[in-house]
Amino acid sequence: MKILVVLALLSAVQNVILLLSETMNIEVLIWNMETFQSINTSEGHSLLITDVRFKPSSNLFATSSFDRTVKIWDAERPNKSLYKLLGHSEQVMSVDFHPSKSELLCSCDRNNEIRLWNVTRFSCTRVSKGATKQVRFQPRCGKLLATAARNSVSLIDVETDSLQFYLKGHTKDVLSICWDASGKYIASVSEDSARIWSAMSGGKCIHELRSDGNKFQSCTFHPGYSQLLIIGGYQSLVLWSPTESDKTWSVPAHNGLVAALADSQRTEMVASASHDQCMKLWK
Ligand SMILES: *[C@@H]1O[C@H](CO)[C@@H](O)[C@H](O)[C@H]1NC(C)=O
Ligand SMILES: *[C@@H]1O[C@H](CO)[C@@H](O)[C@H](O)[C@H]1NC(C)=O
Ligand SMILES: *[C@@H]1O[C@H](CO)[C@@H](O)[C@H](O)[C@H]1NC(C)=O
Repeated sequence: MKILVVLALLSAVQNVILLLSETMNIEVLIWNMETFQSINTSEGHSLLITDVRFKPSSNLFATSSFDRTVKIWDAERPNKSLYKLLGHSEQVMSVDFHPSKSELLCSCDRNNEIRLWNVTRFSCTRVSKGATKQVRFQPRCGKLLATAARNSVSLIDVETDSLQFYLKGHTKDVLSICWDASGKYIASVSEDSARIWSAMSGGKCIHELRSDGNKFQSCTFHPGYSQLLIIGGYQSLVLWSPTESDKTWSVPAHNGLVAALADSQRTEMVASASHDQCMKLWK
């Protein structure tokens, strides 16, 4: 099977985009949004790359992979990874940096294991359970960690490692989760629906949208209009404004599934990456 483009992400510091592409998604490709030049790292991973995140206000980024490792890279010196975090015994599915304690990194693997790492010491500081698909720290304070496993989302208190809220409602597996910039709301997407939950009011589901035949895959909040959720589906982006009586717009976007979306608060841009091998920038 040849999956072509999985992910993209914009750095908060520079207009750098990170795109994982090429055969089987084992290469790391860095794309400069100002010069439109791309750099191929020569190292990559030995198996499929599953996630990529920038460290806040930095050129460092992390990648997770089926090869059971997490690698840390410097986008300015991308030839070789800076280091490799070893410990997961299964395919690593997702990775994220803490928004304020930037030495803190979280990863999860296919076996439901969550690992917290101190990147300064290259050491794993905690192992717990509760995520198979994605991990995302709450923006700003990073008090909560949102995790996706099967058809539910958990909000875990990072400090105490205790489950705060268990968000249940999706019937199909959750494929993507994202926080809004304020850290008050979290969105989740499964193939047949999108949901927005309030982290402030006990993790209550406050909005739901059925996909009506489209296949939802990815999501991100609009960097300029925080009330707008952008959902990646098959060939299209769906813009959903739940506060305007559930208004939706469908924008033709790609020739394949929109596998990943990322937004940049600073440039107010959104990047989409698709199985059609293209990446697009939207403003
Ligand atoms: C990156 O490297 C791969 C294999 O090493 C090659 O096939 C591909 O064309 C390169 N891409 C760019 C943009 O240089
Ligand atoms: C990066 O790798 C390329 C190809 O392997 C090489 O030509 C280049 O000199 C390397 N750059 C650095 C900074 O090591
Ligand atoms: C990470 O390790 C460094 C160096 O040992 C230490 O100073 C720092 O407090 C640690 N951070 C966390 C969040 O544990």
